[in-house]
Amino acid sequence: MTRSPATYIQATASKLAAVLLFCAMPLLFPPPAQAVKNDIPLQDCVKCHYTIVRQIKREGRAHRDKVTCKDCHRGHPPADTGVIPKCNRCHQGRSHFALANCLQCHQAHRPLRIRLPHRVTQPCLTCHTEQYAQLTANPSIHTKLQCTACHNVHGRKPPCSQCHGKHSTDPAMAKCTGCHAAHKPLAVEYADQTPATVCATCHEEVYQQLRASNAKHKDFSCAFCHRRRHRTIPRCQMCHEEPHWPGLHQKFPRCGSCHGIAHDLII
Ligand code: HEC
Ligand code: HEC
Ligand code: HEC
Ligand code: HEC
Ligand code: HEC
Ligand code: HEC
Ligand code: HEC
Ligand code: HEC
Ligand code: HEC
Ligand code: HEC
Ligand code: HEC
Ligand code: HEC
Repeated sequence: MTRSPATYIQATASKLAAVLLFCAMPLLFPPPAQAVKNDIPLQDCVKCHYTIVRQIKREGRAHRDKVTCKDCHRGHPPADTGVIPKCNRCHQGRSHFALANCLQCHQAHRPLRIRLPHRVTQPCLTCHTEQYAQLTANPSIHTKLQCTACHNVHGRKPPCSQCHGKHSTDPAMAKCTGCHAAHKPLAVEYADQTPATVCATCHEEVYQQLRASNAKHKDFSCAFCHRRRHRTIPRCQMCHEEPHWPGLHQKFPRCGSCHGIAHDLII
């Protein structure tokens, strides 16, 4: 039989892959401590364990493609004992693989059909650190909740409405994440165009005071002065600098001693 160069390269490449895999084998599947007594052929497992074979076929993922039943189960009872493998026989070298009780979340035959336990945080941090950093740098009641209090299915992001009502029926208040980030909910930030009516939901008195005023400030939205970050208080000088003669500002360092407050200027 003659070989085309392409098949030759293919064959060589797959030989090389086989050699590499062979070299990696001891790491992945260290040799059994003792010889297997009951060596049932692989194709026979289905005869008695049909449900499991079908499960693996459908949802075994890498446990279907990269390993066989017998890589995990060496031998068969009653002749052999200890045929249930520990996960860390093959999975090592990352903090995730040092967790206790893998089967709390994974199933051996359907490894990625993950069920999360009710209240955990620590295991999540073996992969997601950013969210935890945000939660701890910005203390709120969310910081005290466990990750799975909100993410009870892996990858699912719950709507805020699952646990909270709305501030008001104002459509501008509907999109919670427009102002709050889930992992730092009290570090509220809002858009420059946020209308004053939105702030009025909680600051009715200030809103009415400003509207009743005669000064030019009354035409501005709250967000025009209180920019972006909730609870920031601007200084008058941010927009006006010091408009009067220097001696006056020196004698009366507070603008308010003549002009009252920004929401109700004395002019
Ligand atoms: C002739 C039927 C039959 C065949 C073929 C068979 N098994 Fe079993 N298997 C059983 C029975 C029955 C049990 C329960 C035995 C017991 O609990 O002592 C069992 C138990 C097991 C267990 C559980 C062991 C434990 O400690 O709980 C594993 C794992 C297993 N089989 C894997 C396999 C694999 C892998 C194959 C194919 C290589 C296979 N079996 C082929 C009948 C079979
Ligand atoms: C990646 C390793 C791995 C592979 C591959 C694997 N198993 Fe298992 N199997 C396990 C582990 C771990 C358990 C113990 C699960 C538990 O306690 O929930 C188990 C449990 C079992 C059991 C006894 C408990 C039960 O679920 O009934 C049987 C029987 C079994 N496996 C058969 C098989 C067969 C047949 C195959 C191949 C089609 C197979 N296993 C492939 C790791 C594996
Ligand atoms: C005999 C070796 C072996 C054992 C034992 C084993 N695995 Fe694996 N597992 C593999 C290999 C090989 C892969 C594919 C390469 C990888 O992701 O490391 C894999 C992949 C996985 C994946 C990713 C699946 C995918 O398709 O991406 C998960 C999850 C997993 N294993 C969990 C477990 C858990 C949990 C256990 C214990 C119940 C376990 N494994 C036991 C060999 C094993
Ligand atoms: C608290 C739940 C939980 C526990 C406990 C847990 N895992 Fe995982 N594991 C996950 C989640 C969630 C993923 C991510 C799945 C995805 O990518 O969709 C994952 C992914 C994996 C993967 C494949 C993806 C990767 O990054 O390599 C392997 C392999 C794995 N786990 C093995 C283990 C082993 C081994 C243990 C025990 C030492 C274990 N897991 C314990 C939840 C858990
Ligand atoms: C083994 C690593 C691993 C572990 C452990 C893990 N995750 Fe993940 N997680 C992933 C991967 C990979 C993705 C998908 C990649 C992506 O979308 O960023 C993901 C996605 C997510 C997402 C959706 C991300 C998005 O942008 O849509 C959430 C939410 C999530 N994980 C929460 C958790 C929680 C809560 C835990 C603890 C119970 C956890 N994860 C444990 C690896 C992991
Ligand atoms: C799984 C339930 C849950 C989800 C989902 C959730 N929260 Fe919370 N949140 C709580 C609980 C519990 C508290 C504390 C009691 C309360 O204020 O209702 C809280 C408190 C808050 C607080 C006040 C924090 C403090 O320290 O005073 C804000 C702000 C908040 N949540 C915003 C949000 C936003 C925005 C979302 C969506 C991105 C959201 N929450 C999603 C459960 C949840
Ligand atoms: C109070 C509920 C709550 C808690 C507690 C919570 N999250 Fe989230 N998380 C959310 C919500 C809601 C989103 C979606 C935010 C969005 O759409 O902007 C989210 C998004 C995510 C995402 C997607 C990427 C991102 O940053 O937006 C990941 C990953 C995630 N969370 C992981 C975690 C981890 C890990 C923990 C624990 C350390 C945790 N979450 C705690 C509610 C929560
Ligand atoms: C226009 C910005 C904005 C939007 C949109 C918004 N919020 Fe708020 N929210 C705030 C501000 C500002 C506070 C007060 C924070 C403080 O005390 O510093 C707050 C406080 C909260 C609180 C804690 C105090 C309380 O009232 O219970 C919760 C919970 C909350 N928001 C949930 C939500 C939810 C859920 C949504 C979406 C339906 C939402 N927010 C939409 C700005 C907003
Ligand atoms: C959900 C209710 C809510 C909304 C909406 C809201 N705030 Fe607040 N705001 C609060 C609470 C609660 C405080 C703290 C009050 C206190 O300490 O007396 C506060 C305080 C303030 C403070 C004063 C901080 C200080 O040091 O005295 C400013 C300025 C402020 N908010 C501006 C705004 C602006 C501008 C908007 C609209 C973009 C807005 N707020 C929307 C609830 C809200
Ligand atoms: C974010 C910018 C900003 C801040 C902060 C600000 N102002 Fe103004 N103010 C303006 C603008 C813009 C005008 C209108 C100027 C014009 O139309 O000529 C104005 C007008 C005025 C006027 C003239 C009123 C009138 O009706 O003619 C006075 C007095 C004044 N501001 C005082 C103050 C004082 C005092 C503070 C602090 C307590 C302050 N302002 C904070 C932007 C600001
Ligand atoms: C022209 C700029 C400007 C506008 C517009 C403005 N503020 Fe202020 N606000 C200030 C300044 C400056 C202060 C600090 C107190 C002072 O010197 O007047 C302040 C103080 C506050 C305070 C804390 C003190 C108090 O009076 O309770 C709150 C809350 C507040 N503003 C909310 C609002 C809301 C809500 C709106 C819109 C209805 C608004 N502000 C519009 C400039 C402004
Ligand atoms: C000693 C009292 C006094 C103090 C302190 C004071 N002002 Fe005035 N300001 C006035 C008077 C009176 C007027 C109106 C007469 C005029 O136009 O000169 C005025 C007018 C203004 C005007 C409107 C001027 C125009 O050109 O329309 C602005 C803006 C203003 N002041 C800002 C400030 C700011 C900002 C501060 C603090 C840095 C401040 N003032 C401090 C008394 C004062």
